[in-house]
Amino acid sequence: MLELKNITYKIVEHGKEKVILDDISCVFDDKCLTAITGHNGSGKSTLTKIIMGIVKPTRGKIFFDGEDITKLSVDKRAKLGINYAFQQPVTFKGITVKDLIDITTGEENSTDKACEYLSKVGLCARNYLDRDFDKTLSGGEQKRIELALALAKPGKCFIFDEPEAGIDLWSFDKLNNIFDNEKCYIVVSHQERLLKKADKILVMENGKIAKYGEAKTVLKSLGSGYCERLKEGL
Ligand SMILES: Nc1ncnc2c1ncn2[C@@H]1O[C@H](COP(=O)(O)OP(=O)(O)OP(=O)(O)O)[C@@H](O)[C@H]1O
Ligand SMILES: [Mg+2]
Repeated sequence: MLELKNITYKIVEHGKEKVILDDISCVFDDKCLTAITGHNGSGKSTLTKIIMGIVKPTRGKIFFDGEDITKLSVDKRAKLGINYAFQQPVTFKGITVKDLIDITTGEENSTDKACEYLSKVGLCARNYLDRDFDKTLSGGEQKRIELALALAKPGKCFIFDEPEAGIDLWSFDKLNNIFDNEKCYIVVSHQERLLKKADKILVMENGKIAKYGEAKTVLKSLGSGYCERLKEGL
């Protein structure tokens, strides 16, 4: 179980204080798919980066299975079982996709095993294993490989920041199956299909939690066409 207590994140911009996250308290349950949604700039990515330790909060505490992890590095959090997939994947020239899968899983994988990870995200795996994980891959391919890597890690809590970004909607509908209710999945998304599949939905607004609860109840309160309105910035 992951618990955030009074998480606040402030920065100073042009000599003025700016509050990015304002006193966020919530619990993410094990065996629960939680979707985080909300307008651009509402603080979703910052919140997930704070959970992973990429950004340190100005105030507040984070507990993972009862342990205070607020001061732990990204590395130590990863060892405890928290995984993260970026909104924008980071690419590496000179490292193949197969190398990355081996590094991620911490073992030399057979071709078949490595292919399994890539097939999960809908890639015809053998075409990709020897490719460098660099900018010669299309945006959608990079994103899918990043998702496969995140899923290949052993762990208890998996955070995905807009897994749909760069992937066409038709393909993303199929990718939705990679998230289930077996572990703690926290997925930032604007996709209605994913919100409907989620157990819980957390809606961010101006750095605060606007709504958080059972998906059905939250979706009802958001009204029909919420995701369309989000995409249009309304
Ligand atoms: N280090 C920083 N310096 C200045 N502004 C920042 C910093 N980090 C975040 N912000 C601002 O905080 C706000 C929230 O950013 P964040 O990336 O968390 O939003 P988001 O909800 O993920 O948006 P999107 O849907 O566009 O991905 C934005 O206005 C962003 O510009
Ligand atoms: Mg974001």
